Amino acid sequence: MKAVLSYSGGLDTTVCIPLLREKYGFDEVVTVTVDIGQPVEEVKRAEERGKKYADRHYTINAKEEFVQLLFKLIKANGDYEGYVLGTALARPLIAEKVVEVAKKENADAIVHGCTGKGNDQLRFDNIFYQHGFRVIAPMRELNLTREWEMEYAKQHGIEVPVTKEKPYSVDENLWSRSIEGGKLENPSFEPPEEIYEWTTNPENAPDKPEIIEIQFEQGIPVAVNGERLSGFELIRRLNEIAGKHGIGRTDMMEDRVLGLKARENYEHPAATILITAHRDLEKLVLSRRELKFKKYVEEEWAELVYYGLTNDPLFDALNAFIDETQKRVTGWVRLKMFKGSVIPVARYSEFALYSEELVSFDTTAIDQRHAEGYSRFHGLQGRIYRKIMKD
Ligand code: ARG
Repeated sequence: MKAVLSYSGGLDTTVCIPLLREKYGFDEVVTVTVDIGQPVEEVKRAEERGKKYADRHYTINAKEEFVQLLFKLIKANGDYEGYVLGTALARPLIAEKVVEVAKKENADAIVHGCTGKGNDQLRFDNIFYQHGFRVIAPMRELNLTREWEMEYAKQHGIEVPVTKEKPYSVDENLWSRSIEGGKLENPSFEPPEEIYEWTTNPENAPDKPEIIEIQFEQGIPVAVNGERLSGFELIRRLNEIAGKHGIGRTDMMEDRVLGLKARENYEHPAATILITAHRDLEKLVLSRRELKFKKYVEEEWAELVYYGLTNDPLFDALNAFIDETQKRVTGWVRLKMFKGSVIPVARYSEFALYSEELVSFDTTAIDQRHAEGYSRFHGLQGRIYRKIMKD
């Protein structure tokens, strides 16, 4: 019997390897790590550990596919309750890549290290079931605690990467870094500076503001300060530049799919910059009605992603609508970064629905007298209602 394990190299998934042999009776365990832009050292570490502890290891590069998904996210201003959806968007892609290996390896089951309390189990399972695989989730099935896992790992000669002092569960990819667990599980406890790795404390950020220009073509970011960059490089660079200014920290209460509320901490400098810029440009070029309707579409889009339901036909339909609106979202936005904040300060598009000539205080292109007729009807029902109620 052969198992294919979705592998991060962390404690949970590493403990799965001996568990699959001892408790589940597999004679072969194959690990798969999918590269979606997490730090290079992390991918390397997973590869080393996979090769050391499992029978065979695969590292799959899915960075470009992840960037394509992030472009969809940017067009949809992806946001669930204030969360930028990095982990959520990556999960189904990771699952698809693991399935490819499982098919090639003729595996009897696919294994993941998710617990029974979070969202990730749902996002993974959905794709694994879609391809007809048996799913094994030892952390969920065996109700294991981290303490038990550390002891079990030691007994099996597995190096334990987390220490008792820093017992955080971290998930990283190109778009965001999420930090959970340990002392952070008390929402009344203010996060210590040590949890952050991508962002400078805003208090220690440069004392001088910096302007950055983002150029979009059909809703997709293509250049920073006039320099054209690949999607991957553009996001990587913005994480660096905006992270230095302390931009993109979130500390929030989040409603998980199962209904549990969770305290979540995130870092996401590029995401904050790009969504702020993209929203600003949309306000210049989309009509009032488009903007209003798109908000509902975005909310639905974000919920599908959060729930791991991107295989639903609704996801394709929403993206088709969004793509139609993005045809004119071409232009640039300049933003001012300063000590944790980012504010749009200038924007331009050849598709702007804005007309300086019409709106300016200083022009006569519109005959203002025409507004009077409109104004006579505006508020008509309210005026009638107030009159009745007074009588
Ligand atoms: N709350 C986020 C989500 O559901 C992030 C989960 C990240 N997982 C982790 N082990 N830190 O998408």
